[in-house]
Amino acid sequence: MQIRATQRNRLQEKYGPWAVVTGASSGIGREIASRLSEAGLNLVLIARRQELLDELVADLVARNGIETHVVCADLATSAGTAAAILSSQNVDIGLFVAAAGFGTAGSFLRSDLAKECEMLDVNCRSLLALTLHFGQRFSEQGRGGMIVMSSLVGRQGVPYSAHYAATKAYVQSLAEGLHVELKPRGVDVLASAPGPVNSGFAARSGMRMGAALTPADVASETLDALGRRMTVVPGALSKILTYSLAPLPRPVRARVMGRIMRGMTKHLDETVFADTTIANESRESTEIRPDVADRLREIRSKSA
Ligand SMILES: NC(=O)c1ccc[n+]([C@@H]2O[C@H](COP(=O)([O-])OP(=O)(O)OC[C@H]3O[C@@H](n4cnc5c(N)ncnc54)[C@H](OP(=O)(O)O)[C@@H]3O)[C@@H](O)[C@H]2O)c1
Repeated sequence: MQIRATQRNRLQEKYGPWAVVTGASSGIGREIASRLSEAGLNLVLIARRQELLDELVADLVARNGIETHVVCADLATSAGTAAAILSSQNVDIGLFVAAAGFGTAGSFLRSDLAKECEMLDVNCRSLLALTLHFGQRFSEQGRGGMIVMSSLVGRQGVPYSAHYAATKAYVQSLAEGLHVELKPRGVDVLASAPGPVNSGFAARSGMRMGAALTPADVASETLDALGRRMTVVPGALSKILTYSLAPLPRPVRARVMGRIMRGMTKHLDETVFADTTIANESRESTEIRPDVADRLREIRSKSA
């Protein structure tokens, strides 16, 4: 779907002439980059997979005649985040889109600590460094926009994707604070908080998604909301879930989300839990019962 003329003019005037997009090689980031190029914005495109970025650049330049810089950087590292900042130093940036990120899923007790820390580095630490950098730059120039990818799961605790949900709670809270704090300085900050989206996310996290939005749906609603809202919840399904859960107490919301997430992740634990009693009991409940937790502790202390 082509971008509307009114949206094109608004994006160009308020957030041009250049935008930085992390996570541009796939899914939501790639789609937002494509929309921005249709609006005539030049792009700094950041991700690890060079061949995907090169393909995207060839397409966007051919279709929209924009200028681009490609930055292959691993945002889980300080060096990668520094490269992302350096690469945009000498261009006139008006918009920063933080779409790089990934999730983990399944029983928290079986998490791989290194992978969880990598997720924390990409979803939170690097995002903090980049929002601080662009927040300062945009405040000095008195204009700019920042979009960060939050999620439906960031609104409460989520069993079976507990740490991923915690990273998104961080993103959501940071965006809300910055939205209010930076507004008087001419900087628009938006959190985009969709439910399931059909992208590379499911394959990396191992989640099985049923109904899901397309990255194009998310990109379009998100860009529409920039400068107008604090948070956008793209898609009808995400809105129904978010607004029906909102009035409930947080513990109830966490239990409901646990049931939903259990359905999306239970296959992951079937191979992980060697003890079938625990696997069955874990499947029956959204919370680990105290006797099961004791058994898990016992097993862990024996294997330690
Ligand atoms: N899909 C969903 O259901 C959903 C729902 C709500 C929110 N979100 C959020 O939306 C954002 C975009 O996700 P998506 O759905 O578009 O997933 P995706 O298709 O897997 O895209 C993720 C992007 O992040 C980049 N990335 C991941 N790790 C990176 C690293 N270490 N360094 C640099 N770039 C890295 C990937 O590029 P490389 O692999 O090439 O580095 C890719 O371009 C994420 O923050 C995600 O948490 C997704």
